[in-house]
Amino acid sequence: MSINTDMAVRVTAITQVAESVKRFRFERLDGKPFPVFPGGAHVVVAWKDGGMIRRNPYSLMSAPGDTSAYEISVLRVEKSRGGSAFLHEKVKLGDTLSLSQPVDLFPIDQRGRKHIFMAGGIGITPFMAMMDQLSKLNQNFELHYAVRTRTHGAYWQELTERYGAHRVKIYCDAEKLFIPTEPLLGAQPLGTHLYVCGPGGMIDGVLGTARKLGWPEENLHSERFLAPPPGAPFTVKLTRSNKTVEVAEHQSILEAVEAAGVDAPFMCRGGACGQCETNVTACDGEILHHDHYLPQADKASGKKIMICVSRIKGKEITLDL
Ligand SMILES: Cc1cc2nc3c(=O)[nH]c(=O)nc-3n(C[C@H](O)[C@H](O)[C@H](O)COP(=O)(O)OP(=O)(O)OC[C@H]3O[C@@H](n4cnc5c(N)ncnc54)[C@H](O)[C@@H]3O)c2cc1C
Ligand code: FES
Repeated sequence: MSINTDMAVRVTAITQVAESVKRFRFERLDGKPFPVFPGGAHVVVAWKDGGMIRRNPYSLMSAPGDTSAYEISVLRVEKSRGGSAFLHEKVKLGDTLSLSQPVDLFPIDQRGRKHIFMAGGIGITPFMAMMDQLSKLNQNFELHYAVRTRTHGAYWQELTERYGAHRVKIYCDAEKLFIPTEPLLGAQPLGTHLYVCGPGGMIDGVLGTARKLGWPEENLHSERFLAPPPGAPFTVKLTRSNKTVEVAEHQSILEAVEAAGVDAPFMCRGGACGQCETNVTACDGEILHHDHYLPQADKASGKKIMICVSRIKGKEITLDL
């Protein structure tokens, strides 16, 4: 994605909405309206942190039709490279950051006659916008929302008040209340679509149960808040740009090539959209594929890599970039 389409924004509100979760409200510096976005879309938030530019994707959780501001909610992740900690601790009212255009990799399937949302923790964010969209269209939906404790769970009270306890069910680990996935998914009318967002294990478990119950693949939708995992440093040779770049332990290949001034395409930075797919010319080790995009055959071929999340176990990889 070209940096030229990014929008410069000012932080106009910061609200602590739960333990470790803050909501940020952004308004455009040029005073123009934001684009209307579909529920489920995210933006890539970019800001300067010392000498580096950080770019993290966040789901838009404000009302999709509200063009006056965009809002995101951020969980402060303890074991990380510190992007979420920076947003929590360093970003203040009036600061300026940059947002990409909204990208929707988790859309509502308009064919659905009923929509079941299953959220775990911060995975609630895309559903906030999706439920706003569906409620305005008078469509049938239910939310099943699992939280660690009631103080860790963001928005559960507000959502229950807004949409009613018949449509919003809260399950709290600390109270030994868990989503009854199997009976719930076993009792849905034909034409129901399922959407799940939360920890990886939850997504795998819910989708596995749905498949076991015979749900059609096209009715299953999920989004993973995947981030680039750390690993041993290695070297990347870029044939078209004629550059050699070092990828540090806490950097992705994409971040390393960006820091070297090479403009590589991206949309999600989380291994899901396919934009950063890059041809591999040579690799002296093993490619560690962390994405959810490439088919197994492409992963096995050793000829493709998603540079936003994948790395290598080896010394050097040569890319057609
Ligand atoms: C499409 C999409 C939408 C998203 N929407 C949201 C949202 O609405 N709200 C939200 O809070 N987040 C969201 N995320 C996640 C978000 O982009 C960031 O990954 C998150 O905020 C953590 O950022 P970070 O810079 O603090 O950590 P990152 O450095 O990105 O690390 C995140 C994870 O990487 C691993 N990791 C990285 N470094 C280390 C290390 N040194 N030691 C151990 N483990 C490590 C850990 O598993 C850690 O939890 C979304 C992600 C995607 C792909
Ligand atoms: S940027 Fe989306 S898969 Fe890499």
